[in-house]
Parts: sequence; structure tokens; C-alpha cells
Amino acid sequence: MKRAIIITGGAGFIGSHVVRLFVNKYPEYKIINLDKLTYAGNLANLKDVEGKPNYKFVKMDICDFEGVYKLMQDEHVDGIIHLAAESHVDRSIKDPFTFAQTNVMGTLSLLQAAKLYWESLPEKWEGKRFYHISTDEVYGALELTHPQGIEPPFSTKASSGKHHLAYGDKFFTEDLKYLPHSPYSAAKAASDHFVRAYHDTYGMPTVVTNCSNNYGPYQFPEKLIPLFINNIRHKKPLPVYGKGENVRDWLYVEDHARAIDLIFHEGKIAETYNIGGFNEWKNIDLIKVLINTVDRLLGRAEGEDLNLITYVTDRAGHDMRYAIDSSKLQKELGWEPSLQFEEGIEKTVRWYLENQDWMDNVTSGDYQKYYEEMYKGR
Ligand code: NAD
Ligand code: DAU
Repeated sequence: MKRAIIITGGAGFIGSHVVRLFVNKYPEYKIINLDKLTYAGNLANLKDVEGKPNYKFVKMDICDFEGVYKLMQDEHVDGIIHLAAESHVDRSIKDPFTFAQTNVMGTLSLLQAAKLYWESLPEKWEGKRFYHISTDEVYGALELTHPQGIEPPFSTKASSGKHHLAYGDKFFTEDLKYLPHSPYSAAKAASDHFVRAYHDTYGMPTVVTNCSNNYGPYQFPEKLIPLFINNIRHKKPLPVYGKGENVRDWLYVEDHARAIDLIFHEGKIAETYNIGGFNEWKNIDLIKVLINTVDRLLGRAEGEDLNLITYVTDRAGHDMRYAIDSSKLQKELGWEPSLQFEEGIEKTVRWYLENQDWMDNVTSGDYQKYYEEMYKGR
């Protein structure tokens, strides 16, 4: 095999798309999916690749330093693409310790295992890469603004030169200072700092990316889009936090996976790249698109389910707006999102409606209890 790459968190939402892309595109690489299989990890996400000769699954906790070190030695690993994390903001508000353990200590354990193994080789860092996947939430929150009195969304031109709709005149750029607000984003920020420190202190060849909200197949239905699609289907209430005015910048998950492939191979060492879709949506407007799409695809009258919208107590510390400026990545490496949002949402809704078994499987048992607890009193 030409390369041996560990992809951590490969049984999760984004990780499973990255594993699929790498296994299919690079038969000459050995792809090792290292995942603890928490509630969010699901090997059913990878049924189509599990029999391929260049794919291997290893059930392991990234915090298991000895285990990771031995795996790297045994498999002669020369690349790590690190996605494993606790990823849900609401869970981090209830249980911050697990987030610090996995996202901070787990990342540190991987870094140290990679450092010891790679430094022990004659060629040392040459041909090696540690790629850390992070989030735009480390930058904090942006405001909704009204430049020259124009009501958002207004048309603006990104530094990439393209027009898009925006809810404010500021964007997350790579040089912004970190200002995380939730325990989740604080833990991700800390892990980003450790990755940078391993480059600056030891010379490890690292790269970090900070991406906006992903959507698409195989996302665990605690996150807005799959949760709401499933609730609309079953005519269950849609718990909209606060006034539904928060803004997120949505990117189709396969476009994120393509960016990861490009940056793993061609990104500059020690650089940070922001990844986003220039695709801002106010939650309530997005929710209405979901309702109309589900209703249409199920043959219901359009808008029949608008009455499911239920405003509930806001998320504590709820960030108002995320908006990524991904023009550095577009200019330096030529990446662009391939899908229009309308197309991506249609594909996504169809996928969840056609894969009810997958949904039933992940929403049964413990998750049901968690979900009821989460919305009790909201
Ligand atoms: P996810 O919650 O769907 O999947 C996380 C995966 O990590 C699961 O398979 C889980 O079993 C595994 N995992 C958790 N703890 C582990 C541990 N201690 N050891 C080994 N495996 C462990 O997450 P996701 O939404 O796919 O996000 C993947 C990564 O991308 C995360 O690092 C997240 O911070 C980042 N990210 C996500 C988004 C998004 O919109 N989902 C956007 C930007 C960045
Ligand atoms: O920006 C990238 C981040 O996007 C990732 O780093 C996180 O891992 C990922 O979970 C996501 O974080 P968000 O908190 O933005 O995603 P979530 O799907 O939880 O919520 C999207 C928006 O919808 C947010 O403003 C909160 C709101 N919301 C969410 C849920 C689950 C609701 O109004 N009701 C809900 O039930």
C-alpha cells in the first residue's frame, strides 16, 4: 500500500463520508477507521465499503494513547485525519467533562502517539501529515447587521469575488482571534491550539480546517436538519430555540469531504483553512423549507405541517450567526462547493425519507430517553 492513513471518527456523520471517499478514490491507500462507536458512531453508515480490501475498522478510544501508538507502529501509519469528537452543543452544555476528555485529551493523545512514532523513524516527519478537523464555532458568534439600513439578508461580494446573501457584513476569516462560547467550542478551540503547538514546538507537519454547519445523509438526528425531517414526517412538534432568528452557514457534507481530500494532499503545512458554503440561512426560514420539502415529497398539501413549529426556551449562550469566508481555500487550492443549497436539501430530505430503517435504528432505545429528557421543560 502506498500510504496508511488513520481516519478517526470514521463511523460518525462527516467521518463516514470521508472514509467512503478515500476508500473508493485511493485503492492504493490503506484506510483505517479508528472509532470508539459512541452513540454517534454507526457502522451501518459504511456498509458499502466494509468489504473493500483497503479498508479496516478498529474499535478504539482516541484517549487510549498506548493503543493508538501500537496501531501506528503495526500499520506503519503516515497520515492521520482526525474527526473523532463529541460534536453536539446541547450535550456539551449538560456534560462538559466528556467534551474536554474526548476533544482535548483525545486529540493530545493522538498527537503524542504520532509524535513518538514518527520521530522514531529514520525519515522522521518526511511524508507525514496530521490533519485536524475543527469547527467555525471556535471564532465565536457574529452579529446580524444592517449596513446602510438594508434589512438582511442582503447581497454582498465575498473576497472570492462572488455575490451571495448575508445577514451581516463580517465573516469568519482565518486570522480572527478565537472566542468560543459553548463547552463544545471551547474544547474544540483547545484542541486546535494543541495541534498548532505540536507544529510550532516539535515540527509536526499539521494542518487545521474550520468548517461551517454540514448537512446530508447519515447525520445523527439530534442535529437540526435530520431531527426536524424525522419530526415532520411523524407530525411531531419542531422545537425551535428562541425566536428562530439565529443564522447558520450550511455546507453539503460531500463538499466538505472533497475539501478534506484536497487539503490532506495539497494544503500547506501549519496552515489553517476555513471551509464554508457562503450559504447563510435563518433557522426559521430553513425550517420552512424543510416543512415544504417533506410535505411535497410525502404528497401532503404544501405547508400542511407549518403548525408543528413550536418555539421553546433558547439554547444557553446560543451563538447568533456563523458565516465563513472560505475565499483563502478557493483562491489557494481552487475548492468550491459543488451543490446549490436547493439541490442539496432535496437530496438530503429524500435520503432520510427513503432510509427510515436507518433512522429507526438510531432513534430507538437510549436515544429516545435522551431526547425526551432534553426537551422536558422547554
Ligand atoms: P459525529 O458526532 O457525527 O461523529 C463523531 C464520531 O466520533 C462518532 O463516530 C463517534 O463514535 C466518534 N468518537 C467520539 N468520541 C470518540 C473517542 N473518544 N474515540 C474514538 N472515536 C470517538 O460528528 P460529526 O458531525 O461527523 O463531526 C466530525 C468532526 O467534524 C468533529 O470533530 C466536529 O467537531 C467537526 N465538525 C462538524 C461539523 C458539523 O456540522 N457536523 C462542522 C464543522 C466541524
Ligand atoms: O458550525 C459548525 C457546527 O455546526 C459543528 O461544529 C457542530 O458539531 C454541529 O453540531 C453544528 O452546531 P450547531 O449548534 O449550529 O448545530 P445544530 O444542528 O445543533 O443547530 C443548528 C441551529 O438550530 C442552531 O442555531 C440551534 C438550532 N436548533 C437546533 C436544534 C437541535 C433548534 O432551534 N432546535 C433544535 O432542536
